[in-house]
Parts: sequence; C-alpha cells; structure tokens
Amino acid sequence: MLMPASDDPKRDREIFLKILTMDDDGAWQRQKGDIPVAAWREAAPSAMQEEYFTARGFQRGLTNEEKEDICARIWGRLDSAGRKMLDDQRRRLIPDRAEFDAMPYAERIRECDRPENVTGPTVEAWQEINDHLGTTASSLPELVEQLGQKTFGRTPRVGDSFCGGGSIPFEAARIGCNAFGSDLNPVASLLTWASLNLLGGGKDVQEEVMRVQSAALAEADRQVTDWGIEHNAQGERADAFLYCVEVKPEGCDYFIPLAPSWLVGEKSKVVCRWQCVDGSDQLQPEISVVSAAEVKAYKAGKEATVVNSRVIDPFNPNRSWSVEALRGPEGLRRWTNDDVVPRPGDVFQERLYCIRWVKTVMRNGKPKKLAATPHPMPPILRAKPRCWHCCANAFPTGSARGLFRPRQFPRVATRPRSRFAHADGPTGIICSHHGSC
Ligand SMILES: C[S@@+](CC[C@H](N)C(=O)[O-])C[C@H]1O[C@@H](n2cnc3c(N)ncnc32)[C@H](O)[C@@H]1O
Repeated sequence: MLMPASDDPKRDREIFLKILTMDDDGAWQRQKGDIPVAAWREAAPSAMQEEYFTARGFQRGLTNEEKEDICARIWGRLDSAGRKMLDDQRRRLIPDRAEFDAMPYAERIRECDRPENVTGPTVEAWQEINDHLGTTASSLPELVEQLGQKTFGRTPRVGDSFCGGGSIPFEAARIGCNAFGSDLNPVASLLTWASLNLLGGGKDVQEEVMRVQSAALAEADRQVTDWGIEHNAQGERADAFLYCVEVKPEGCDYFIPLAPSWLVGEKSKVVCRWQCVDGSDQLQPEISVVSAAEVKAYKAGKEATVVNSRVIDPFNPNRSWSVEALRGPEGLRRWTNDDVVPRPGDVFQERLYCIRWVKTVMRNGKPKKLAATPHPMPPILRAKPRCWHCCANAFPTGSARGLFRPRQFPRVATRPRSRFAHADGPTGIICSHHGSC
C-alpha cells in the first residue's frame, strides 16, 4: 500500500528489490566476507588508530562487541567513496562480480548476510530509489515516514491482532511504522511486548534491562549460595543439569527419560546413553564423548526416546507408546498453585539425572571455570530436594505478594502445568522473585 505504482511495473519491481537489498547490487553488498583489520585501521582517524589498533591488528583485550562497535563508528564517519573503498577490500568468497551476478538468486544468497543484518541500500541505491519515488530518504524509517505522509498524511500504522511471537509488529516498528499487536495467548503477548519494548527499546533500554538482569542474577546467586544448593561437598558449583521428564508406560519395567535427541553437547560431541540398574526402575545415564559420525547420527535422532509423538524404548526401538495414549482419555491432571514437582502417581515424572560441576580457579589473576566430568545422580534421587524445599517454602509468600500470579498456562502434551509459576525451575523462581522486587 505504501509503494505507489507507476506506469513502469518493471522499474517499480527493481526499486522495490533495491529497497530490500535484494537486487544485484544489494546482494553483492550482502555477500559475506570480512574486511581485513588493516583496512579498518587505514580508514580510521588517527586518534582511533592509536586508541584501538596496533601495527598488527586490534589492541588486545577488546571484546568482539567492542570491535564491531569500533568498525561501525569508522563506517559511520566515511562518505560513500570511503565506504566503497573499504568494502572493495572485503574478502568475498566469490570475488568476481560477473561470476556472482551470473549465479541464480537461490545460490547467491547462501553466500549472503540477511538483509536485516546489513546497513541497508548504498548511497547510490538511495539516489535511484528517491528519484523513482520522489522522496529524499537515506534510511528505511525515513522512506516509510515520507511515503506514509504522501499516502495517508501520517506515519503508517501496522496492527497484527494474531501476532504470535510478534515478528510482524517488531519488523514494522523496525522500519519506522507505529506498530500494534495482540494475541489470545499470554505467552505470545509477553514475547511481543518484550520484542517491541526491550529489543526495540533502543540501546538505553537494553542496557538498563541488562543491568537489572545482572543485579537480579547476582542476588539469586547469593541466595543459592546461602542456601547451599547447587554446591557439592568439594565446594564445586553446578553449572549444567540433565533434568528430564520421564514416563513408565504400561508393560515397561523402567522409567524412560524423554528427549527427541540425546546429543547433549554438539560442539563438545557429548551424548547421553542409558543403562539399566539392577533392582531399580530408574535408568542410569552414561555421558560420553563420541566421534563426529556418531554426533551426526545422534543429531538425526539415533537413540531418541520421543519421535513423532511416540515414546521409544531406549533398549528396543521397535517398542513404542503414543504420548496421546499415555496421557489417557481424561488427559493429565492439571497442576495446582501448590505443585512444584509432579506428585507420585502422575503419569509424567521429572528427575535430575546428572550434574556437571565446575570449579573456579585463578589463572593469571583471573577467575577461570574448570568443568569436571559430568556426575550421574544416584538413581533414587528424583529431584533437587533441598532446592525444591527452599523454593516451596518461598512459594506461598511470593504468591501472596503477586509474584507468581495464578494465570492459566497453555496446555502442552507432556506438561500438565496450569500456572505460569510452574514454568520455572527453582533457580528461575528465585530469579523471577528477585527480578520482581
Ligand atoms: C500463526 S500464529 C501468528 C503468527 C504471527 N503472525 C507471526 O508472524 O509470527 C496465530 C496466532 O493467533 C492467535 N490466536 C488464535 N485465535 C485468536 C483469537 N481469537 N484472538 C487473538 N489471537 C488468536 C494464536 O494464539 C497464535 O499465536
């Protein structure tokens, strides 16, 4: 509606693609490939050269974010000729422009960043866009504003009354529209609100959110340490938990832990396998590092215990049960406000199978976390009793103060949870408690 149609539809289309950086020039500009640090240094003013660069690269100790920020500042100071000179030094995978242009679009974009991850059309492209549309824009929000004023006499408004996760209002706001969204599902509404107000709130809001989150996390960490939970007798700290829903279908002698994949660490090539324990109906995890070929097989679902809504016996892949049948004709018992863990007799139980402990040691004056071998929990341990106990004690207080509002939670096949407060584990509960204070 915003794009006025001329009597040259071919040119209208070209301009539309230019705005989206989906034309030939835009795709070339989006082609991946780093600009060498030496070229950034060369393009920087001398004060920045001294502050951030050495003869061989960036100064030591700069984070990737800081490096990106420095490059963005250098880019922002350059005129179009300077930008072109810098961009010409990009180490593109396909450096020959004619070869790149000859490729079909679907092949080209494999080598390209997404349009939203580049700065937008070039100065030359804006010139063509403005000439065609009668505008004077140099960014998408400016263009949207000018076209909105021409067409409607105001900034365009976009409303999505079924907004789900909010991508439509978020993108609309990002390109300069006044955006609105609503949804029946409160989780969807929350996500949309967060996209618009936190992600879309600008740098100041994001920094404030990160500050509040860090403070809440530090306070939760203090509480966890005070309670002595998530620490072991050696003074090590738990940093990863294998905590899983499990079910004991009729005719099966053991509880089956449920996961669509037992690849627990893709980069570290760590998988979890299951072993029976004599005299127990609880399986024992065995955490091991496997070959790249095994990682591929696990990624593709090898030894998965939930496939296409069926629970698979980890020792006999030909034996399976439908999740629907396990839920039963009446469905699952809905959790009440007081439930923190499943009750005995509930179809789906939960259990902490394994903890990875880390030790913090000082290396060169800096704290460094060293991970120990993942430690399987004794088979009898169903949950984190002390942790749950502490949280369960805190729960009525939090509830009374309105921290855990008893709002309905959407139904999920294996999750009978009926309240938002059920969504978090204990650490999450402590975090939300401190986050709301
Ligand atoms: C397909 S999703 C929307 C996806 C979204 N537009 C996007 O691009 O991500 C449909 C959404 O409609 C919501 N919905 C269904 N019936 C609704 C109603 N009567 N009122 C408001 N939202 C509703 C659902 O909760 C769901 O989030």
